[in-house]
Amino acid sequence: MMITRRLEATQGDLEVAAAMLCAGDLVAFPTETVYGLGADATNGQAVAGIYAAKQRPSFNPLIVHVPNIQTAKNLVAWSDTADALARAFWPGPLTLVLPINPAAGLSDLVTAGLPSVAIRIPAHPTAQRLLQIAGIPVAAPSANPSGHISPTTAQHVLRALEGHITAVVDDGPCSVGLESTIIGLTDTPRLLRPGGLPVTAVEACLGAPLADAGGAITAPGQLTSHYAPTASVRLNATSAHVGECLLGFGPVAGDVTLSASGDLQEAAAALFGALHQLNALGKPIAVAPIPNHGLGLAINDRLSRAAAPRG
Ligand code: TXA
Ligand code: MG
Repeated sequence: MMITRRLEATQGDLEVAAAMLCAGDLVAFPTETVYGLGADATNGQAVAGIYAAKQRPSFNPLIVHVPNIQTAKNLVAWSDTADALARAFWPGPLTLVLPINPAAGLSDLVTAGLPSVAIRIPAHPTAQRLLQIAGIPVAAPSANPSGHISPTTAQHVLRALEGHITAVVDDGPCSVGLESTIIGLTDTPRLLRPGGLPVTAVEACLGAPLADAGGAITAPGQLTSHYAPTASVRLNATSAHVGECLLGFGPVAGDVTLSASGDLQEAAAALFGALHQLNALGKPIAVAPIPNHGLGLAINDRLSRAAAPRG
């Protein structure tokens, strides 16, 4: 357990909060929708910390928060549709999912290995100032443990996460109180999650109805097709069979090793990169045993999806 600092929306405290984020620490902060649990989106270990604090048993892609459209453009492949929606509704309770710019340096744990990323410019003045001072893209899911109700006050955040995060910036209750509306723009504009911005407003701006998500896309964390390596995967292997490559952990040294010291946070941060690397070898992948607790639950969830038979 750590001591969670309670910060205020003063210039001095926001500089402290920004420095914590830049150092890889977890800081909860207010947005107009709900309080977010922020981490440096370019730092895999910091992002792994989000999943650990939320006790999330699987890796769901997270929303990346930036202070302005120019910064957003650097992270993704921008489009005319994105531009129209951004000009109409940013800053505000709208999240856009766009093809990721691989050169932007976002941790692949933020996108859970997907080739797209969710971006939002929050309107809350405190979130705005924090993002401007920090100068890094900030990954932030709602600041609640997995399966709990989203927090709309700093007290809600502390009740569930005190002792598990470095700080919370307390700036009173959130005005919208409902998560952002998520629009997918990787092909036809699509409603991925209804939220604080009415769908009718988005459709009026586009001049066309949105496609609906379709069963699978609402829960990208559950989609196997996006993640599965093309090679076959064998779990709980203490060594590679002939022709296999090995994903190591702890005492089992592999062609790529997630964490030689057996650190689950380091392993989570390295997971998607390691799968991409081994997949490129074009051989079946044997995977060392990973303890099934803490972040190991999410790592094993991902690996067992990769190992599941494909349809
Ligand atoms: O209002 C909000 O959006 C809050 C505040 C803190 O900004 N954040 C939030 O984040 O609700 P979170 O992590 O609880 O929800 C993120 C949602 C997930 O349902 C995820 O499935 C979706 O965004 N998402 C993220 N990246 C995606 C992607 N590349 N493709 C499809 N969906 C994505
Ligand atoms: Mg949430």
